[in-house]
Parts: sequence; structure tokens; C-alpha cells
Amino acid sequence: MPDPKEAAIIVVIDDDEAARLSIAQMLRLRRFTVQVFNSAETALGWRGLENARCIITDIKMPGMDGEQLLTEVNRRGLLTPVLMITGHGNIPMAVRCLKAGAFDFLEKPFDDDVLLAYVSKAVEQMELRLESREMRRRLDLLSPEADGRFGMVGRSREMQDVYELIEVAARNDAPVLIMGETGAGKELVARAIHAQSARNRAPFVPVNAGALSESLLESELFGHTRGSFTGATTEREGKLVSASGGTLLLDEIETISERAQVQLLRVLDDGVVEPLGSDRPRKVDIRLISASNVNLGEEVQRGVIREDFFHRIMVLSIVVPPLRDRPEDIPLLISHFIRLGAAKMGVPSPNIPEKTLAKLLSHTWPGNVRELKNTVNRMLITSHQGVTGDFVPDIEFESGRLLSLPSSSGRLREEMERTEQAVIEAALRENKGLINPTYQALGISRRALYERIKKYGLERGQYR
Ligand SMILES: Nc1ncnc2c1ncn2[C@@H]1O[C@H](COP(=O)(O)OP(=O)(O)OP(=O)(O)O)[C@@H](O)[C@H]1O
Ligand SMILES: [Mg+2]
Repeated sequence: MPDPKEAAIIVVIDDDEAARLSIAQMLRLRRFTVQVFNSAETALGWRGLENARCIITDIKMPGMDGEQLLTEVNRRGLLTPVLMITGHGNIPMAVRCLKAGAFDFLEKPFDDDVLLAYVSKAVEQMELRLESREMRRRLDLLSPEADGRFGMVGRSREMQDVYELIEVAARNDAPVLIMGETGAGKELVARAIHAQSARNRAPFVPVNAGALSESLLESELFGHTRGSFTGATTEREGKLVSASGGTLLLDEIETISERAQVQLLRVLDDGVVEPLGSDRPRKVDIRLISASNVNLGEEVQRGVIREDFFHRIMVLSIVVPPLRDRPEDIPLLISHFIRLGAAKMGVPSPNIPEKTLAKLLSHTWPGNVRELKNTVNRMLITSHQGVTGDFVPDIEFESGRLLSLPSSSGRLREEMERTEQAVIEAALRENKGLINPTYQALGISRRALYERIKKYGLERGQYR
């Protein structure tokens, strides 16, 4: 990779050819790589825009103006500083742009040296922004609240691959197909893509095709007019229309009828939807994410899914691996759900006995993360009700798997200790460092509390 500073790309947008060429020439002389555009629209269509170190734009242009360009740059979450060039007497607009996050503005005419100083400052600013984003990402990876990314838990190689694909999909607007077993996290992945994408201010609308009959699904998706079929007493706007501008997640895609597949193809190809009983097609703009827990390729072979539909919906595809293929994520998920569940119930996180842990780690989790989450929640409730006073999952022990996971179990202990320390610190703070109320609130013995205070090197005095 070239040194980003040497390769710094500067984008210059101006409808006036002489102006953009003179700026470009001046910058090229100073060894910047310059990309010129005669309109904001063409600049926004350029794929390299997000890597630019500075965007220099004229404010007044026919079509999209500099202010609108800035809005779009913000909407896409681009970090690139935007330097506005303003003609005489256009100061109010420039001030508005500054408030909207423009890097700065420069009044025409200006000296080359002045422009150069601004550009150098912007490039520096961009490097800083990139660095701090990178830093934040690393912190996200380290913080116990977010063991994975995008609010998802999991650090396995398999999940890292999923996170990368989420990023790719978020930068794109093409249809995505997410495959994976039940409970593996397909919907979470779809939500992450939406949240990271340029559509994140518009709605994310999930529809479970498998839960609806053929006709219900069609009216749910495409809408219908009044009286279009028996029982259609009112007009209904389809989810494709209400999701317009945003993302539609179509789950259990393998269950949809051929007719609905053809209609969806029209939505994808022409961006129009025709409500049932209506002859007036409506324009829609959606990103389609499909999900399935079966092998869709086989459904194509069996003739259930049309081949053209299949290819159209899986321009990008992501496979969410089952939990049994990423056992190192199990301890992280267990402590995550314990923390979450205990906080919800307002109780301290319980200790997990060794044999229970062994059971959890040896289970193959056919219901994946959802099953694990439910199991942990059940354990939390029973242990809190004191039925057993213990933490016993109602799953079968599967011998032979635990032995291959010594490091995971070590990591779980570490996780648990971190949680335990946090809970004890919180209780101490709440009880001003006093031993009696603290051990009672925690439901442990006085001696156990002393031991933990010593173990974690807690200084009681600091909580007074
Ligand atoms: N990596 C993860 N980190 C945290 N929670 C997760 C993760 N993966 C899944 N979950 C949780 O597990 C549950 C099931 O996830 P989700 O609904 O995304 O699965 P799915 O693959 O869409 O399931 P289905 O096939 O049944 O539709 C949800 O409560 C979700 O929040
Ligand atoms: Mg789902």
C-alpha cells in the first residue's frame, strides 16, 4: 500500500472549467492526486470518493449545489473534510454549511498559497479522523460490552469474516442473501448492514415470509386497494412502500410463491411495485436483504425458487456459521447473556459452577445463539428463585467435546472474574465501602467478600 499521505486524493468540484482546472493544476504541482468533476452528482457517483482526503467544492452550481453535496456526504457518513468555495455575496450559505459540518470556506478570488494551506490542514484533519476511527474500532473490540462488532458478540475467525462482509454489504446497495441455521444471528446481521449503510435513517422492515399464507404475504409486501379481494375493506400500503428509502428483510425467502418472486424481480429491476387491484405502479427504493435457513441452491434445483430470482437476490451473500463451528464464542456469549439477563432482573451476576460450565461448553447448540440465550435466561431465573440454588442448564451433557476446549474455559473464567469484580465494585460503591451491607446485598458471606476484595486488590476507602 502506498503511503496515504503521498497518495492523498483531492476531489475538486466546480461547474466552471477554468476554475477547476486551475485548482487542479496547482494541487498537482504540489504532488496531490486530483480528481476533478463538473458537478456534485458525478462526484457522488464516483466510487473512490470515500477515500478522498479533501473535497473542494464550489457552492453555486446548476443542479445539486455545494450545500446539498455536503448534506449527502454527511448522510453517507464520509469522514472526508469538505472545503467550500464561495463567490462574492454568498456568505449566509457558507455559514450554513459551516454549521452543517463543512471543514471551512474560502471566498473567491483566493491566492494559491491560501488554498494550499487550507487543503493541507484538511488532509491532516482527515488523517486524524481516520486514525481515531481505527482506534475506536480497536477499543470496540476490546471492551467487554462489545466483544464483537456492530453490537454482536463473538471474536472467532468465522465471525470476523462475517463482520467484514457486513462492512462490504453496508458500503454497497446490492441485494444480500444471508444464510444460516435457525437462531444463528441472521436478523442481527441484516440489522447491522442496515445500521452501517447509507440507508440507516430510513426504516428497517423485517417480514417473515414463512409465517404468512401466499395471499397474505402478497398484500403485506405489495399492498392492496380497497375491494381488491373479499375482505379487503380498506386500502393497505405494502411493506415495500413503507420501507422505501430503507431496507426490507425478507426472512424464509424459500417459502415465497413464484408469483411473488416475479413481482419482486420487478421491484428490483424497475423499482416499481403494483398494489393488488391497482393499475397504478408506485415507485419504491429499497435494499432487499433475504434470509434463509435452507440451502437455496437446492431449492432452485427442485424448481421451488426461480433461477433468475435466485441470482438477482444474492448479488452478495453471507453465511452465518452455526455456533458449534465457533466454540470459542460460546463463553463470550454466555457471559454476555448472563450480564444482560442479570441486569434486566436487577440481580448480581451469579457464579457458574464448574460442572455447569462444562455442560454449556460441551453442548452442540442446534438452536444456536437463540438456544444459548434462552438457556442462560432460564438458568438465571431458576437460580434466582433458589429452586436449586445452583445454575443447572436443562440440556444434555455431551461428553468428549469439552476436552478440546481448555482455552475457552480459561477465557470464560477470565470473563466471569471481570464481571464479578465489576459487580462487587458497584456494590461497594453503593454501600459506601461498608462490609456488612455490601456482603448482604451481594448475597455472599462476609469472608467471601473479604477474599474477593483482596483478590481484586480493591481499596475500600475509595468508596466512602
Ligand atoms: N453474535 C450475537 N451476539 C449477540 N446476540 C446474538 C448473536 N447472534 C444472535 N444473537 C441473538 O440470538 C437471537 C437469535 O438471533 P436472530 O434472530 O438474528 O437469528 P436468526 O438467524 O434470524 O434466526 P431464525 O432462523 O430463527 O430467523 C436474537 O435474540 C439475537 O439477538
Ligand atoms: Mg430470523
